[in-house]
Amino acid sequence: MISKNLNDELNKQITYEFYSSHLYLAMAAKFASIDFTGASTWMKTQAEEERIHAIKIMDFIIEAGGEAKITGFEDPEVKGEDLKSIFEQALEHERFVTERINFLMSLAGDEKNYAAVNFLNWFVNEQVEEEATAEAIIKSLKLIGNDGNGLYQIDKELGARIAVGGAEPQK
Ligand code: FEO
Repeated sequence: MISKNLNDELNKQITYEFYSSHLYLAMAAKFASIDFTGASTWMKTQAEEERIHAIKIMDFIIEAGGEAKITGFEDPEVKGEDLKSIFEQALEHERFVTERINFLMSLAGDEKNYAAVNFLNWFVNEQVEEEATAEAIIKSLKLIGNDGNGLYQIDKELGARIAVGGAEPQK
């Protein structure tokens, strides 16, 4: 069984994960519009992963005997106009998601809901990975600066990310 409080907070997290998916899809569209097709592919894959995160939480609530709710959210807003600032926004968003996961983890711990603690552990590890990935991309972008050749190369590398489900990356 799952407490109403934890159920409600997990439902909120479903919304945040779907919002993340929309935000990254909006970033994918932005990258495509400024001709960074590799970065666009990377963000589309990220958006797909976020959708899977949302469904993972939904399935956990259902399995735990709770009530999963799908709600709407505000329009995502992409704030930057270039690769670095948009990836910085993505990192900032991931840091917010990490805080949310940590909050959920402490809630589950306080309630001695060890099934939820165990479930949320996957998200704790995922957040470490997601922040580290975004930080590494930003670090490379800082070194590249405005160098056209460097930007071309990193876009190509970002486009090589394997899509969720193993589809061929965009060439
Ligand atoms: Fe599902 Fe990127 O947090």
